[in-house]
Amino acid sequence: MALTARARQRDLRAALEQKNVLVRELHHRVKNNLQIIQSLLNLQSRSAADSNQFTALAAAKSRINALSLVHQSLYEDETLQYVNLHALLDELCRHLLQSDWGAGKRVGITVDASETMSSADQAVPIALLVTEAVTNGLKHAFIDRDAGAITVSLVNDPVTGAELTICDNGIGIGMDIGRPKVKPAAGGGIGYSLIEGFARQLRGTVETTISGGTCVSVKFPYLAGRKTP
Ligand SMILES: Nc1ncnc2c1ncn2[C@@H]1O[C@H](COP(=O)(O)OP(=O)(O)O)[C@@H](O)[C@H]1O
Ligand SMILES: [Mg+2]
Repeated sequence: MALTARARQRDLRAALEQKNVLVRELHHRVKNNLQIIQSLLNLQSRSAADSNQFTALAAAKSRINALSLVHQSLYEDETLQYVNLHALLDELCRHLLQSDWGAGKRVGITVDASETMSSADQAVPIALLVTEAVTNGLKHAFIDRDAGAITVSLVNDPVTGAELTICDNGIGIGMDIGRPKVKPAAGGGIGYSLIEGFARQLRGTVETTISGGTCVSVKFPYLAGRKTP
């Protein structure tokens, strides 16, 4: 009897281990496939017919890259369920600095994020939101200068909630401060609407301020993920 119980426990452990191997493999493959798509878009953008095409492909590459980094974070987590937000945002900003908008500019990005292990459901909109806001900084804030700074900060407090801010010290020239809320002037792309959409997904709100640069701040409920090991 005890022998059968022990054997059953061993089988269950082996099945669990096998499931973990498969899930890890799945995230790995998804990440690799997303990287293949990025490489294909890269090839395509080398023969882009005009700057509009180039811009659209650059945006698609960055968004796919953000998703690929979330899958990488997931397979690096021992439980395969949580994303280390600090590490993710650090890596994401490093990639954005090497992207079509970052390369060749003397812009520094500083990430200051609470040590939070969030679920993938929360990490995806956070990664995509930061991608849009940092890209906007790189693309629009420093057009009259060749150097600048962007800061990405995430505070996650069980009492006051979470706040994600992306600030630059460039010129907020494309923003319209005449409206009740600061919003981009007409004529831009879909990036800012996506930021508002991802904020809604996090059950939060966006506030943009202009003072020595543009600051996008998103407040949303506390991310009650696993504590960092
Ligand atoms: N950080 C920023 N600094 C200066 N202007 C900005 C910034 N972020 C957004 N903008 C302005 O808002 C406009 C809309 O941004 P967005 O919706 O992301 O579209 P896109 O980046 O494709 O133009 C931009 O074209 C730009 O004029
Ligand atoms: Mg944009």
